[in-house]
Amino acid sequence: MDVFTAIKERRSCRSFLPDPVGDEVIEKILDAGVWAPSPANNQPWEFIVITGKELKERIWLESDKCKKILFEKSGWKWLDRYRLDFVKEAPAVIVVVADPKKTGADMFLEGGGLAYQHGCAAAIQNMLLAAHALGLGTLWFTLFDKDILRTMLDIDAAREPLALICLGKAAAGPMKTPRTAAKEKTRFIR
Ligand SMILES: Cc1cc2nc3c(=O)[nH]c(=O)nc-3n(C[C@H](O)[C@H](O)[C@H](O)COP(=O)(O)O)c2cc1C
Repeated sequence: MDVFTAIKERRSCRSFLPDPVGDEVIEKILDAGVWAPSPANNQPWEFIVITGKELKERIWLESDKCKKILFEKSGWKWLDRYRLDFVKEAPAVIVVVADPKKTGADMFLEGGGLAYQHGCAAAIQNMLLAAHALGLGTLWFTLFDKDILRTMLDIDAAREPLALICLGKAAAGPMKTPRTAAKEKTRFIR
């Protein structure tokens, strides 16, 4: 698939079929992740692949608690209709674990030290696009308590579970999320 097609066609998937995703396919997606750019080529990512039902259900339960806290704090009404079942229904969940020590030259600059997150974000986007090119749906998911996930997945305190990628065959068409045209967001200085 052409990269521009993949970029434009990829949409967040929040409903998955139970069909398992083979290890070979998952490995291909992870390989796309590690080819992302990163600060000083520090490759600040590690991945945990979860396919077991029990662990996915525990993550789902914890995320649901986060959703309730979010609702109390934000009062956002749309959260009533926002179900998190995709966390337990996705046949595979890739946890992207970031290493804050693997940031780049930015650590010496005022307000720096966060470029490791940018690197991980690039890896995540690579994986979303690769999964789409392989005919799979994905969701970049961040509604969880990092400390709880650390304990659950035995991640040491120095590392940061940054995002989950829910992965599988899409059960339904995606929401049509609009975009503001690039020209409305761009200023050329020549
Ligand atoms: C950093 C980041 C965090 C996100 N966290 C969540 C999340 O916790 N739950 C969710 O349903 N979607 C999450 N998303 C997906 C966005 O809602 C989605 O990308 C956006 O609405 C645009 O829709 P599209 O991906 O279909 O183009 C996240 C996306 C990004 C980039």
